[in-house]
Amino acid sequence: MSDVDELAARAVEMMVAAYAPYSHFTVGAAVRAASGRVYTGANVENAAYGECVCAERNAIFAAVNAGERRLLEIAVAGGREGEIAGFCPPCGACRQVMREFADPAELRIHLVGPGGSRRTLTLADLLPESFGPSNLAADRRS
Ligand code: THU
Repeated sequence: MSDVDELAARAVEMMVAAYAPYSHFTVGAAVRAASGRVYTGANVENAAYGECVCAERNAIFAAVNAGERRLLEIAVAGGREGEIAGFCPPCGACRQVMREFADPAELRIHLVGPGGSRRTLTLADLLPESFGPSNLAADRRS
């Protein structure tokens, strides 16, 4: 099993941890940080719908809370009622959160689809011309 296979399997496993009584759409994510450690998360919904938090952000925040600051790759799997019927690309908010802790050209995002299919993109593919920490640093110098 390759490292990516393992990350994908961890994301799929995490789908069962989702709390999704409103959408019934369960998502699991597994992120590998620069230390080599893997952190996982699932989506957690709320009766006040705006407070729902995606699997990706929960995995990333677990990594950051453990002291990680640089993310290398993330696998995402999701579907209605726990069934993976297609790819589950990260939402815009999660892409921006990834941007904070990754080099867009470096971070690989593995979308896990049905039957073990997979599609890998970089964060630069999914969030071109992004705003990140270096933009604030550039502003300070001018
Ligand atoms: N969701 C995620 O956790 N990750 C994604 O990439 C897309 C959407 C969650 C949010 C909400 O709990 C449910 O899926 C339906 O949008």
